[in-house]
Amino acid sequence: MPIVNRVAALSDEMAAWRHDFHENPELLYEVHRTAGIVAERLREFGCDEVVTGIGRTGVVGVIRGRKNTAGRVIGLRADMDALPIEEAADVPYASKIPGKMHACGHDGHTAMLLGGAKYLTETRNFDGTAIVIFQPAEEGGAGGKAMVDDGLMTRWGIQEVYGLHNMPGLPEGHFATTPGPMLASSDTIEITIHGKGGHAGAAPHEAIDSVLIGAQVISALQSIVARNVDPLKSAVISITMFQGGTAFNIIPATVKLGGTVRTLDPDVRDLVERRIAEVAENTARAYGGSAETKYTRLYPVTMNHAREAGIAAEVARDVVGADRVNENLTPVMGGEDFAFMLEARPGAFVFLGMGDGPMCHHPAYKFNDNILGHGASYWARLVEKQMPAG
Ligand code: NI
Repeated sequence: MPIVNRVAALSDEMAAWRHDFHENPELLYEVHRTAGIVAERLREFGCDEVVTGIGRTGVVGVIRGRKNTAGRVIGLRADMDALPIEEAADVPYASKIPGKMHACGHDGHTAMLLGGAKYLTETRNFDGTAIVIFQPAEEGGAGGKAMVDDGLMTRWGIQEVYGLHNMPGLPEGHFATTPGPMLASSDTIEITIHGKGGHAGAAPHEAIDSVLIGAQVISALQSIVARNVDPLKSAVISITMFQGGTAFNIIPATVKLGGTVRTLDPDVRDLVERRIAEVAENTARAYGGSAETKYTRLYPVTMNHAREAGIAAEVARDVVGADRVNENLTPVMGGEDFAFMLEARPGAFVFLGMGDGPMCHHPAYKFNDNILGHGASYWARLVEKQMPAG
């Protein structure tokens, strides 16, 4: 069964919207221009309600079906923000803003959901209410959490929520999802190690070498993954920053380590958080120093609900055919703040394949406009299938 015909007819329009967003990328919560255009379009389409400023710069559109017998409400979410990357892609609509680029395809996500919204407002061939959600600050700002904290789910009575992300490397027009964890929790660690400064050549024995302690801590932290985490579960600890020292012949009193932690299970996340502090502090103590660990929880595990993941796969099969849908995707260790919406309501996240090309967040990343119709059709079918008008 193909893409919804009316949606396919919107492809050029969606591409034009996307190219305009692409030329004018905005970061985090500063998506004022994008959010303004989204709200304007939703009003033009005839959404029953358009509300801006949810989660600072998020936009919500309400589309009522031609019936509302069972009071069903489904949320569809797209993200709007870009990244602080200098664009290296060779496209005629390249970013006009130095140092900013839509390198994760959120311009495409926004255009697809606008396409879905246009179709749904025209046809209204469903029994219930569709809520289109456009969020800011997916890239590290927890905009999804900001919208949930601002009453997104309760204000409109959202019962289920769905999200979609493009995926380079997955064949064009293929969908992938899975019940349970789909993307990892994403947290940061900062460890400050205190020793005692001194003369590195003449009197190392009178110092407490914070650099040496830092090196031991980095090695010891990997024992958490190797020896504390269940071998059938997953965790990543990556120390990516080691800062300290000013001269060849001075032992610095203090060094700082920084890095990222990923897990696919809330219990593993708790374990790793606790063990990092224990290992850092006790390793430092063994060498006569001390360590302070600051563990910051950013995004939770993106945990699909089993029933809704099944629904998402079924809708995707309707749109692109069974042979193009993988409903048992191996989880990915990237993070995604749709996780906050899935903590608030049952739902599911899907990847939509773009074909070969540079990965998201690469300066030469290029969104494939051929998938706009697939994405918008997915949204349209999801609403019509989950809330059939009979
Ligand atoms: Ni993204």
